[in-house]
Amino acid sequence: MHCVVVLRFVIYLCLVGFAAAAAAKCVPEKCGDLEVSYPFWINNPECGYPDFNVTCRKDNHTGKMAPFLPVDVANANAKEYLTRAYYKIMEINYSGHIVINSSSLKAFSCRQNEEAHAFKWFELPGPFYFSKSNKFVVVGCDTIGTYTYGDKAGDARCVSSCGFQNDPLYCKYGCCEISIPDNYWWIKFKGKALDPELCGFSTILDPSTFTVVDNKTSLFWGNGTKAYYGLRLNWGIGLQNCSMARNTANYSCSSNAECINSPSRRGHVCRCLPGYEGNGYLNGTGCEDENECTHKESNKCVGREEGGICHNLAGSYNCSCAKGYKGDGFHNGTRCVSKSSNYLKLAIIGSLSSFVGVSVVACGLFWWLSMRRLKHAREKNFRQNGGIQLQERIASMGGKKSLRMFSERELEIASSNFSTELGKGGFATVYKGVLVDGTHVAIKKPKSISDEFINEIIILSHISHRNVVKLLGCCMETQFPLLVYEFVPNGTVLEHLHSTDKQLTWEARRQIAIETAEAIAYVHLQASQPIFHRDIKSSNILLDDTFTPKVADFGISRLRPSDDRHLSTMFASGTPGYVDPEFVRSSQFTDKSDVFSFGVVLVELLTGLMPLLSIQGANCTLYDHFLSAINDNRLPEILDPRVVKEENQGQMENMARLAKACLQVKAKARPSMREVVEELLWIRAATKQPGLYRDVSLVEHRGDPEQTRQNYHALPTTINSSLEDYYQSSPSVTAISSEGPSTALIQIEMSDTYAR
Ligand SMILES: *[C@@H]1O[C@H](CO)[C@@H](O)[C@H](O)[C@H]1NC(C)=O
Ligand SMILES: *[C@@H]1O[C@H](CO)[C@@H](O)[C@H](O)[C@H]1NC(C)=O
Ligand SMILES: *[C@@H]1O[C@H](CO)[C@@H](O)[C@H](O)[C@H]1NC(C)=O
Ligand SMILES: *[C@@H]1O[C@H](CO)[C@@H](O)[C@H](O)[C@H]1NC(C)=O
Repeated sequence: MHCVVVLRFVIYLCLVGFAAAAAAKCVPEKCGDLEVSYPFWINNPECGYPDFNVTCRKDNHTGKMAPFLPVDVANANAKEYLTRAYYKIMEINYSGHIVINSSSLKAFSCRQNEEAHAFKWFELPGPFYFSKSNKFVVVGCDTIGTYTYGDKAGDARCVSSCGFQNDPLYCKYGCCEISIPDNYWWIKFKGKALDPELCGFSTILDPSTFTVVDNKTSLFWGNGTKAYYGLRLNWGIGLQNCSMARNTANYSCSSNAECINSPSRRGHVCRCLPGYEGNGYLNGTGCEDENECTHKESNKCVGREEGGICHNLAGSYNCSCAKGYKGDGFHNGTRCVSKSSNYLKLAIIGSLSSFVGVSVVACGLFWWLSMRRLKHAREKNFRQNGGIQLQERIASMGGKKSLRMFSERELEIASSNFSTELGKGGFATVYKGVLVDGTHVAIKKPKSISDEFINEIIILSHISHRNVVKLLGCCMETQFPLLVYEFVPNGTVLEHLHSTDKQLTWEARRQIAIETAEAIAYVHLQASQPIFHRDIKSSNILLDDTFTPKVADFGISRLRPSDDRHLSTMFASGTPGYVDPEFVRSSQFTDKSDVFSFGVVLVELLTGLMPLLSIQGANCTLYDHFLSAINDNRLPEILDPRVVKEENQGQMENMARLAKACLQVKAKARPSMREVVEELLWIRAATKQPGLYRDVSLVEHRGDPEQTRQNYHALPTTINSSLEDYYQSSPSVTAISSEGPSTALIQIEMSDTYAR
């Protein structure tokens, strides 16, 4: 008796085990590029729902396997002629619809096959219904289409014509569309071209499944970007909607799945709740907990290396910190902060107190508390300054961590408590520092920051050019973030131009102009979004030991808060003497505003004068002074006597003309930074040819005609030696001429210019 019971129990266990093993075999089946899972099935009916059988077979058009839906179709006006056809399934959406390729489903009307194809009868299998997103579409010149559906008597019709344009979005010319009713399972339609010489057809399709490329022809031939007409069919499981199905014994959604009413006429669909993976059906794979901790993207816990721990919970996860750390372990929260430094301080205080006594304990405690307060303040600053977002952005940049986060302590040590001041401006003070690894740095301490700080910092960290001062990193723990730059040792161009003991030769000035222009052009053009310098001036161009210029403070002026009351609007966005007057007028900062400021720098290099002057007691800008000199033909008077030599004069005059082009009042008339670079290279190349000059504003026919005419008259009218000699004499031009087609262009431009 006992034995029998036990035996039965064992057999029962085996059966249950077997059933479980059989059920476990239901994995999504792959057919071509599509994955087929419950309720759809290919081979095993146990792994799907009745009537959701799809056929996996070779697609004759592509030669690849694909799932097909069996449909009954007739090319006739009578149901008796229905035969089985297979339509390729293009998309399975488990929220309740599929899309099939219905390109071949056309009721054609042409003279030669009028009777054979004029009708289509289309009948869907069991659980599928036409979605009302489909349209009945008639294509052709003067074609009438009609349809009948479900148990409806009578026809709906639309007439296409090439004589006028129709309004609907997808049907513009030679076509018409009307809606079809929702959720019917058969439809019969017809297309009839009125002119027997012309063909036409009617069809049903979901316009959103393809994109019309060309209004006129793509609908005719179905060559939208997906190259097929899609027909959208709704489906659902069973006959009941969710509220009805829930109360029945064969409710099909598994635990941790939600039931959604199907878009179809009847039935429902099941979908896993957020945090769970699977298809959500009892007889499918059900829903299993997704392990967020194994996918770094799906959890917000700080990494193990920073002391974070991720706990996978049913349907979610939680973060915490390892022993010795405190915080909530979330990236967006208080993260994990090592406690060890605090323990160390406590230990030191403890041992001190045993030696020195209670007063020292009090002292120590006070110190500890203030350290704590400092640390809290740092953490608070870090969060308020957006340090967390910045860290996330840096982390998301992956391997190339171009930007380093410094701690306040680190920078205090590096700068010996900010003892050596390098410079001071309205916006920030710069200090000298040496990092632990021996790198010399300049630490910029701003007086305030703007809201866009983080974005700008990320962009600036991506600029890498030998003539741009590199941003190495920043520190977010101070009230206003500190910026750490590469240190450039040899002072600014302004200092070199105006000190008596430092002298810049003409060659050095020319090189500074070229490389500075290259840096500005690079940043104008390279970055993913244009960055303007906004404060180009000779004191922002630093020089290293070899007099290589490095442009400092790129884009940084934009980081200044716009509502700083202490600075006038004009000052907040540039330096007097350099500010583009058009920008002052329109408040629109463009790349040409940088070009203007650069023009002022060119004038400084040419004249050695300060950007703001006092002439006969009246204040004026250097550029006004320069422009009036050049207009009065007094240019030689204001060129820097320290560098004017006979062999330089031609180049200096050419550079003066370029500066004049940069300083034009109309921003549009100024050359772009790239053109300025080209021009400077030409000026340098023309060493042996004083007066040889290719004028940008003339070549480009830019700006107002009057200006162009003036530039034209400023050009030399004769050239002494041939262009051939000129090319041979100049290395940089030889380099250009090796580039082929562009040479021809340049030659044409040159000869054009000088032929006049
Ligand atoms: C859709 O069907 C048409 C006609 O049967 C065929 O020419 C086309 O290649 C198919 N498109 C795709 C993407 O399968
Ligand atoms: C689920 O499977 C069980 C046995 O495998 C079967 O009895 C039941 O009818 C199936 N339910 C559905 C909705 O297919
Ligand atoms: C996550 O962990 C924290 C701290 O361990 C705890 O207070 C909180 O209740 C946890 N949250 C969940 C959803 O388990
Ligand atoms: C951090 O993000 C998680 C997940 O989005 C959220 O649950 C949590 O409330 C957030 N915490 C804070 C402090 O914003």
